[in-house]
Amino acid sequence: MDKKSVFGILATLLLVLMVPAYGLWDGLVRQPAAKEHFLDADAERGIATYVQFCVACHGPDGQGRVEPQYIGLPLNPVYRKQLGLATLDPDVARKTIARGRPGTAMPAWSTEEDGDLKDYHIRDLVTFVTNWERSEHLLKESLAEHAPTHAAAGAAGVAAAAAAPADDPVARGKALITAQACSACHTISSVPGAVGAVGPKLNGVGTTAATRKPGLTAEQYIQESIREPTAYTVQGFTTGVMPKLPLTDAQISDLVAFLLTLK
Ligand code: HEC
Ligand code: HEC
Repeated sequence: MDKKSVFGILATLLLVLMVPAYGLWDGLVRQPAAKEHFLDADAERGIATYVQFCVACHGPDGQGRVEPQYIGLPLNPVYRKQLGLATLDPDVARKTIARGRPGTAMPAWSTEEDGDLKDYHIRDLVTFVTNWERSEHLLKESLAEHAPTHAAAGAAGVAAAAAAPADDPVARGKALITAQACSACHTISSVPGAVGAVGPKLNGVGTTAATRKPGLTAEQYIQESIREPTAYTVQGFTTGVMPKLPLTDAQISDLVAFLLTLK
């Protein structure tokens, strides 16, 4: 055999070996890495939405129900296990986020249900909540950037409610807005962290309350709104979304005192 044909055979052999080697590398290394990369990118977008709309009820750690601050169910698998809840199924998660759970505080988020979120937002949220453990560090980073978070505001509210002077019901009521998670659903410009969009804005409620129900003063109407949320439904909102919160008479009277100052 001459040198040329030896070289030819070697070159062919090399090529023949390289094709499957590339295939193997592509299948085992490149494609999964690309898939993981897309998963992270989707989850990261989901996290941005979670921090904006979901953290107020499901918590910064996905722990859900930590009364009185968070009122959603746990989404983090660690806390789900503690409560004996099954792993979140992507299809159930998608439907729950899009349509909400009627009769509970979980609102419908899909634009088809008059919510704020498009299908792709919901898809990214599902990617995040069903891959919680691998995306958790990204959530922590995002929360650290978005200070003051609802969590910080909630904790500050609990502390402020405890510290508010006994002779200042308005200050106590203001602190209770975040301490009792009214802020998860209502926006009040003068209360940091009260940026919820599930219920009506309460700016000016001290005035509008007097016009809601014939025969009720502003004070009576606000009292009733908190004690019996289903007694009257503000136009454009859904009956039964505002929960009957376990508040003492003293807390309700402080909340009313504060809300009446919002003229
Ligand atoms: C105002 C409070 C509130 C907000 C805001 C909220 N949730 Fe919920 N969520 C709840 C409650 C309460 C439940 C439990 C409903 C029930 O009892 O079935 C729930 C349930 C869920 C479930 C189903 C859990 C399970 O185990 O079946 C998912 C998933 C979920 N929420 C995701 C989200 C996402 C994503 C967002 C943000 C777009 C969000 N939630 C915003 C209160 C809230
Ligand atoms: C899970 C969401 C949610 C939470 C938490 C919540 N609300 Fe509401 N709230 C609503 C919704 C939705 C409405 C409008 C529907 C209705 O009238 O029942 C409403 C209505 C009201 C109204 C009547 C507003 C008006 O313009 O007539 C008042 C006052 C009020 N809420 C106060 C509170 C206070 C105080 C808290 C905390 C102790 C609270 N809410 C907690 C969802 C919520």
